[in-house]
Amino acid sequence: MLIKTGVIGYPISHSVSPYIHGYWLEKYNIAGEYNRFEVTPENLQEFLFSMHANNIFGINITVPHKEAAWDILAKSGRLNKCDDIKCKVAKLLRATNCVTALPNGNFLAANTDFMGFAENLKINSDGFNFEKASALVLGAGGAAKAIIFALISILKVNSITITNRSIDKCIEIKNICEQEFDYTNIKIIEWQARNSVVAEHNLIVNTTSLGMKGKDILEIDLSPLEKNSLVTDIVYNPLETEILKQAKQFGAKTIDGLGMLMHQAAPAFENWYGEKPEVTAELKEILVQKLGL
Ligand code: ATR
Repeated sequence: MLIKTGVIGYPISHSVSPYIHGYWLEKYNIAGEYNRFEVTPENLQEFLFSMHANNIFGINITVPHKEAAWDILAKSGRLNKCDDIKCKVAKLLRATNCVTALPNGNFLAANTDFMGFAENLKINSDGFNFEKASALVLGAGGAAKAIIFALISILKVNSITITNRSIDKCIEIKNICEQEFDYTNIKIIEWQARNSVVAEHNLIVNTTSLGMKGKDILEIDLSPLEKNSLVTDIVYNPLETEILKQAKQFGAKTIDGLGMLMHQAAPAFENWYGEKPEVTAELKEILVQKLGL
């Protein structure tokens, strides 16, 4: 039987997820289909509740529906109990990017963004010691939350500093980390003070949208970085952002954001198709072409 899956968002035409899942469906010779569905905010609930009837087994959820989809499903009373960390993180974030329509008429709502971030770093970091790392996280939006949960629960970094233009969001994240993960080695600094703490960190993560094509650049001075530091950016257009260029110039290792996109798709694919897919250089090249990077 053909297993139908896809991605919903509004707009959705830009999504490259069909190329990722399509590549794996072909590679593993699986009878599946992965489509884009443009769903307006008004139609989101109807779309979710008709997944079973329409034989749509699983969907990825992108902007602007991650939080709204979580709310709708949580309120519906049809979320299956799930002890997996993917479900726990969705609940903490109150945001899901991966929904499965279960045969019993219920749903599973997971978050795989945080796994994508961690896997991308683990695979590409050449033996970098995360457990001894001091991480500086720039930004405190939804993406930052997922990333901080990954830094704590998967990469197990030693300490985290968060900085954001709006400091209240940092405080909220710090509180969640302390309460839910018992993680207390976390501090907050003012956005204007970010340059003054670069030297104390060896893992720098940009989670803001700054540096993305068409947006302002992220202003930061990475010259005090130690040589064996690691710098990563969730922005992948351009593939090599200004902070990654700068990090390279000062001898740090860099990891671009396209890996996170591919690696967040892998647990969703495995969930729906039962095959743990490989993120290959060939897949990355396909995305680079499709995105015109
Ligand atoms: P996402 O869910 O992708 O993280 P978001 O919640 O809108 O998106 O968060 C975007 C992040 O980029 C936030 O940390 C935001 O800072 P604020 O919380 O202060 O808005 C940050 N950001 C966006 N534009 C910025 C700018 N011009 N200067 C500094 N930070 C900016």
